[in-house]
Amino acid sequence: MTAKLLDGKALGLAIRQEVAADVARLAKAGIKPGLAVVLVGEDPASQVYVRSKGKACEEAGMHSVTIRLPDATSQDELLATIDRLNADPAIHGMLVQLPLPKGMDSDRVLRRIDPRKDVDGFHPENVGKLVTGDPTAFRPATPYGIQQMLIRSGIETSGAHAVIVGRSNIVGKPMANLLIQQGPGGNATVTVCHSRSRDLPSLTRQADILIVAIGKAEFCTADMVRTGAVVIDVGINRVDDPSRERGYRLCGDVAFEEVAAVASAITPVPGGVGPMTIAMLLKNTLQAAELSRTA
Ligand code: GUN
Repeated sequence: MTAKLLDGKALGLAIRQEVAADVARLAKAGIKPGLAVVLVGEDPASQVYVRSKGKACEEAGMHSVTIRLPDATSQDELLATIDRLNADPAIHGMLVQLPLPKGMDSDRVLRRIDPRKDVDGFHPENVGKLVTGDPTAFRPATPYGIQQMLIRSGIETSGAHAVIVGRSNIVGKPMANLLIQQGPGGNATVTVCHSRSRDLPSLTRQADILIVAIGKAEFCTADMVRTGAVVIDVGINRVDDPSRERGYRLCGDVAFEEVAAVASAITPVPGGVGPMTIAMLLKNTLQAAELSRTA
């Protein structure tokens, strides 16, 4: 391997320590930032993420509430839960873990969250603020974490060609919006590719910074990567592996070994983007608590 490893675990920890210091400062003003995480159903990966979010919150000195609702919960019950959290002064930020069970209207659910508590940044009001470059927008945690990782690793985005593979509302679209903004971690030229893009390898090979968020195990191979590119792997996929006690292994959307041989820097999975996402969620919760003081 020749690529430098971008250590999301260490960078995420540093951000969490910064957040913890700010939380301690707010405590002197009598404010304890509170985050509520709502999980509907039993999706195993979501359960892991939700547990990690709650634990990180507590470690930063924040108030943490996790609400687990059964798979059979009606949409009206979920909306009523959101209304209750919207009205709860101890809760400054909330998120509803996605994906929601089949039959639920995610758009309707996300719109019900008070935009001032929408620490995921998925409410249309925050999406609009992000697109227009309003600094009070909550930035979705995964792309925000990737941007911080680039900044803190000294990777220049200004003038760089960033190619994003995947156009989701959670990663691809907000990532593009962050990278084209003016300022640190911005000023990039951005291409967004997706399942209908023609000749994908010819596009990805143009990337100085390649961000892969497509949800397919080891999809991005070395032939898709220009020598010296920075590669950010957003995927976390479970692949059957009978040799492991738990029966599976985790891998990203990038074929790590072969791509690490051509890239100049790469994120591992796990330990890359994931810990940055959690750190930025805490940062957004802190931002929500600070905003509530002036509201
Ligand atoms: N599912 C996968 N990523 C996310 C995220 O960032 N927020 C929420 N709410 N659900 C997710």
